[in-house]
Amino acid sequence: MTILYKAEPKRGENWRALIAKKSPGLDFRIWPDIGNPEDIRYFVTWIPPENLAETFPNLEVVFSVGAGVDQLNLSAIPEKLRVVRMIEPNLVAGMVEYVTMSVLALHRDLIGYIDQQRAKRWKSLGNVSAAKRRVGVLGLGMLGLAAVEKLHGFGFPVSGWSRSKREISGVTCYGGLDELPAFLGSTDILVCLLPLTDETRGMLDAKLFAALPEGAAIVNCGRGGHLIQQDLLAALDSGHIRAAILDVTNPEPLPEDSPLWSHPRVLITPHIASIAQEESALDALLDNIRRYEAGETPIGLVDRLRGY
Ligand code: NDP
Ligand code: OXD
Repeated sequence: MTILYKAEPKRGENWRALIAKKSPGLDFRIWPDIGNPEDIRYFVTWIPPENLAETFPNLEVVFSVGAGVDQLNLSAIPEKLRVVRMIEPNLVAGMVEYVTMSVLALHRDLIGYIDQQRAKRWKSLGNVSAAKRRVGVLGLGMLGLAAVEKLHGFGFPVSGWSRSKREISGVTCYGGLDELPAFLGSTDILVCLLPLTDETRGMLDAKLFAALPEGAAIVNCGRGGHLIQQDLLAALDSGHIRAAILDVTNPEPLPEDSPLWSHPRVLITPHIASIAQEESALDALLDNIRRYEAGETPIGLVDRLRGY
């Protein structure tokens, strides 16, 4: 079996070294040194090249090096190929850290204090107890579930929204578009952990912001395409939305002239909320190949119809 890797080159080299120890017989190639294209059965990538199936006639599975698959452009990958996303414990842990950091920063008004420090102003902005700050998470999948569990532990009233309604102890769950207004109306800090699909693109818009209580705050660590930037800027400027923490933007990198960079109520990080860690990600990949070859379902198999 031959694996072709096309993503961050340094990670590819490190994986090659790890594979030499863990699985010495494995043929692992790094783009653009593809060798004979007919050998390739597994393709591991962030952005695949065009004409995937024509170039690699014996390809069976496309693995995403990340948890998301929107960057793969599923419609360009032939139906006969399976698509599998990255699920590994360190990626989940990293996202839980980022969401916790962001929710606590918004809860304790860190953005306000950063502003005050610049103005050398010593003034309390007031304290609200966690029990009075309602946190809502859009998306209760691998990442959303882990995030709500951690947030619940801080004493926040936590709720979550997903396509199919979940049951999670201590968390108020909402399902589907019909229940979205009720979810939003009881959310003071909104965290987006949805996949980017035709249904979720542009969801964080003026209508959604208007459905949140006055003074609500936003964390987007899903994808930049979820957010309509000008709607957020308008909601921030009107004061309806108090602050936003954005890990993802559209496009990335965020252009220098974007007003988001200098907005006093916005904190931006460059898509670093979480990333699959080298060794655990390789273990997950090798385990999934083993599963596939044994006729089992790979973990993180993407439902092509749903798009995630
Ligand atoms: P999952 O596929 O495990 O979960 C997705 C969740 O979103 C599910 O609960 C699903 O509902 C829900 N959902 C999807 N579409 C809809 C919809 N139309 N309406 C309501 N709910 C919907 O994804 P993960 O938790 O693994 O990852 C989520 C996203 O996080 C990734 O797709 C990626 O974009 C982003 N990400 C960002 C990173 C960063 O560094 N910023 C790092 C890693 C991921 P249901 O449960 O009913 O299926
Ligand atoms: C991912 C990401 O999807 O890093 O894993 O955004």
